[in-house]
Parts: sequence; structure tokens; C-alpha cells
Amino acid sequence: MRSVIDILDLTVDEIDELISTAEDMIENPSAYTEKCKGKKLATLFFEPSTRTRLSFEAAMLEMGGSVIGFSQASSTSTTKGETIADTSKVISCYADIIAMRHPKEGAPFVASLNASIPVINAGDGGHCHPTQTLADLLTIHREQGRLNNLVIGFCGDLKYGRTVHSLISALSRYENVTIILISPEELKLPGYIKYGVIEKCGMKYVETDDLDEVIGDLDILYMTRVQGERFVDKDEYLRLRDKYILTAEKMKSAKESMSVLHPLPRVNEISVKVDSDPRACYFKQVYNGKFMRRALILKLLSEAAQDPKKKESDLYNSENLINVIKCPNSACITTTEQEIDHIFRPIDKAKGIYRCAYCEAKEKYFNN
Ligand code: CP
Repeated sequence: MRSVIDILDLTVDEIDELISTAEDMIENPSAYTEKCKGKKLATLFFEPSTRTRLSFEAAMLEMGGSVIGFSQASSTSTTKGETIADTSKVISCYADIIAMRHPKEGAPFVASLNASIPVINAGDGGHCHPTQTLADLLTIHREQGRLNNLVIGFCGDLKYGRTVHSLISALSRYENVTIILISPEELKLPGYIKYGVIEKCGMKYVETDDLDEVIGDLDILYMTRVQGERFVDKDEYLRLRDKYILTAEKMKSAKESMSVLHPLPRVNEISVKVDSDPRACYFKQVYNGKFMRRALILKLLSEAAQDPKKKESDLYNSENLINVIKCPNSACITTTEQEIDHIFRPIDKAKGIYRCAYCEAKEKYFNN
């Protein structure tokens, strides 16, 4: 029995298998209507959502299962001070699987450490969003016929755009994928993805702030919303939010075979006039997302039925720093939850570089 907190919790073979299952669900819907009969999904959404929560719920209902949950923290006992750890133990008494979204980075990971049922990360702050990545991968596969040999441009808020972080991590395991990072200086990709994923695995990448300069080279253009809710400085958000707007005019410079993706919600970074362009795939992504979530729920419930024992966590590995330093990231779950052990994994011990096990923020530590 295991959880999916990061897209790298799934192997490439498992992602291939999920894509095949999702394709089969699309082709043969009647074969799956009873697959989750008697099973219950809990959707614990501490942060707003339209697609992710409702697609998880639709996915479970369409497979004959049932759903409980909440869509805002204000209606839960979190307001009285209940921790994620306790909430997860409680929900494990009511449901068979959890999908959790939370504004704090690492919160679903904390839930997975405490729940006795599988936990799926449905988005944790600006950190990651693995099931959106599953939707993205199925869309790319269906539109381009491959996940290798692609040039993918990520445009907009690469700093807080959790869907970007997860999709780049996923693509790092495919052959000959070139990443074009298109953002203003203030919204560049965080180091744990740029250095920890792209450079570490030797992916080709380019950084630019000019969409017009690169749009003609792309197989995929992945547009993103500037995530106003994550900015500390609201003036900076207002200054940056309209930096990139994809228009029908700009689309004239793109390849005929290019696909435009966007995790949605869109604000105004893609003109509605682009929606009728056959290259606009963002509503197909929504459709595909439900089937990948169906496939994932089915896989994790099947695994849990075969082996209900929880997968051992490697958190207390002797290489890790345990309660030695604290996370510097104010968005990390360790800054608000009581009594969570502060755990850092070594990245480069000789240089004293460690990363928080919950949010991946980098910190330096030397044991002198
Ligand atoms: N893509 C996505 O996560 O959308 P929601 O915020 O509506 O769930």
C-alpha cells in the first residue's frame, strides 16, 4: 500500500500502464462501472479547486464508488487547531483512499505518513501537483503520439506553478526532451527543479523571457497563470500578471502541429479567441485528467487490497538530519504543524547542502 505525493513516486512503466488503462477507460467505459463498488474516496481540499476535486469525485462515482469530503478548511476542525496528522488518522477510519489539496507545501506528505490508507497529493502550495501531470502526459501522448523527442516551452509563473514542477520532473525520465523556460526574472524555476532535476539528469534547456522568439520551435506550449495567491508582494503580482498573453496573432508563428496546454484556471494569459484553434488542448486536458485519476485510484486501491501493509518511509534514514535545522520556507508545512520532526535529506554533504524532506527547500548545514 502506497501513496502518490510526487510524480516520481510512479515509475515510467507505471505511468505507461496508467495511460493504457485511461485509454481503455475512454474506449470501453462500461467495463469499469463497478470496479470501485464498496470503496470510498475522501477529498480533503483545504484550498479552492474546480477541476481536481470534481474530477476525482466524478472518477470515483463513475467506477461505482462513493465520495466524502470537504472543499474548504473553514468547515473542518482544522479551524479548532486539529493537525494534518490527526485529520489523516481520523479520515482513515471513514474512507479507503484520500485525495488532499493544501496550501502548505508538504502537507499531503505529512498526511501519507499518518494515514493508514493511500494518499494522493492533489496539489500542495507551489510545490507539486502529480495528478495534473498525469492529465498532461495523457494529453501530450494523445496529441503528439509520443512522450520522447519533444521541445516543450513552459511560459509564465515557473516559480509558483506547481504543475510545471511536476511535469518537468516527469519529463526528465523520457528521451530527448528539450525544455524552454519562458518567464520574467522574478518567476524563474526554483532551484530544486532547475538544478535538482534538469541539470542533474542532463536535460537540454534554455531560459528566456521572450515567448515570440521561441514559439516557432515548440511542439508543446505549456501556458500558466501567474499565481496571485502565492505572492507576498501584491504589487509585484499586479506588475507581472499580464506579462504573457497568448493571442491568435501569436499562434500564427507556431507550428501547425504544436499543442497548447494549460492546467487551468485561465485568467487572461490565453485569449478566448485561441480556444477555437485546433491546437488548443486545455479543455482536452480536463477531460483526460478524469480518466488518469480514475486509473490512479484503481491502481492504488488494487495495490492496497493486495498488500495492505504501509510502505516503509525512509525518513529516519541515518543520513538525514533530524531536528537539527529548521526549514527556511514560510510556505512549508513544518512552519505551522506542531511536533513534526524537521527532516533534511543530504544533497551534497561535502558542501553541507540539504533539502527539506517536506517542501525541498535548500538549507546549508555543517557539523563542525
Ligand atoms: N488544474 C487544477 O489544479 O485546477 P483546479 O485548481 O481547478 O483544481
